[in-house]
Amino acid sequence: MPFRTFEDKIAFVTGATSGIGRGVALAFAREGATVIGCGRNITRGAETQRLVEAEGGTFLFLPMDLGDETQVTGGVRTALDRYGRLDCAANCAGVDRSAGFLDYTAADFDCIFDANVRGLFLCLHEEVLAMRSGGGGAIVNVGSVAGQRPFRGNSLYNASRSAVTMLTRSVAAECAEWGIRINEVSPGPVLTPMLTGHLESTAQTDAPMTAESLAAGLPLGGILSPQGIADSVLFLCSLQASKITGATLVADGGFVLG
Ligand SMILES: NC(=O)c1ccc[n+]([C@@H]2O[C@H](COP(=O)([O-])OP(=O)(O)OC[C@H]3O[C@@H](n4cnc5c(N)ncnc54)[C@H](OP(=O)(O)O)[C@@H]3O)[C@@H](O)[C@H]2O)c1
Repeated sequence: MPFRTFEDKIAFVTGATSGIGRGVALAFAREGATVIGCGRNITRGAETQRLVEAEGGTFLFLPMDLGDETQVTGGVRTALDRYGRLDCAANCAGVDRSAGFLDYTAADFDCIFDANVRGLFLCLHEEVLAMRSGGGGAIVNVGSVAGQRPFRGNSLYNASRSAVTMLTRSVAAECAEWGIRINEVSPGPVLTPMLTGHLESTAQTDAPMTAESLAAGLPLGGILSPQGIADSVLFLCSLQASKITGATLVADGGFVLG
């Protein structure tokens, strides 16, 4: 039974059409928040809305492409106009493209960095503006353990995820005076469409990976779930984390410990 820790709070969630972002949207709603969720895919946005409402939660879907500055600005401002303020934001959207370094192209670079770094910057910028005018708030950026140690065949993705850590710390340092806390959750392997796609791409290689083989490498056992990551995101947005800012919470089942 949820404690409704976020009753009367307004939470903005990117990547709410799938995987971790959908899990975070559901978790905020279960805890009483009104959730504004974003993504490009309207069908999957409607599915998140259906899931939230089936549990009695409140959810507004805003179609938004992080590559389009006007859409990001407009999305956050729509949320502000409608609800008057933003208390929490979880930036969960991201893309993954794997390749050996010499096989990556400039188009891959643009795709990965547009969504994972430029898109995150655009969201953070608007969220901070909104929270500064509202007297404070809490933001969580979802990065990855791939930002903390290099994973082979993923160099551009790894680099885009390490940018999340430094952006989080730098912006947190500047925004503390406005009562805005900014932290990062750094997940290990989480069973989502992104991970499933990655696993499928290894099926015909010399080193195929499965959810089971990944889970075997997690000291705490079992593959991670979107709900597990959502727990960390909500903790960092909660009153219990009121003195935490600029931090990276590694939620990986012990994955980086080996
Ligand atoms: N799954 C893992 O094992 C894992 C591990 C560590 C970190 N992460 C990180 O967790 C985050 C979420 O990953 P996931 O596994 O939940 O992936 P996912 O299931 O593929 O979901 C990705 C989400 O990002 C959104 N998105 C992507 N590009 C976008 C764009 N240009 N504009 C707006 N929304 C966009 C997608 O929405 P639309 O398609 O509707 O636009 C979707 O909601 C990512 O940042 C990823 O790096 C994942």
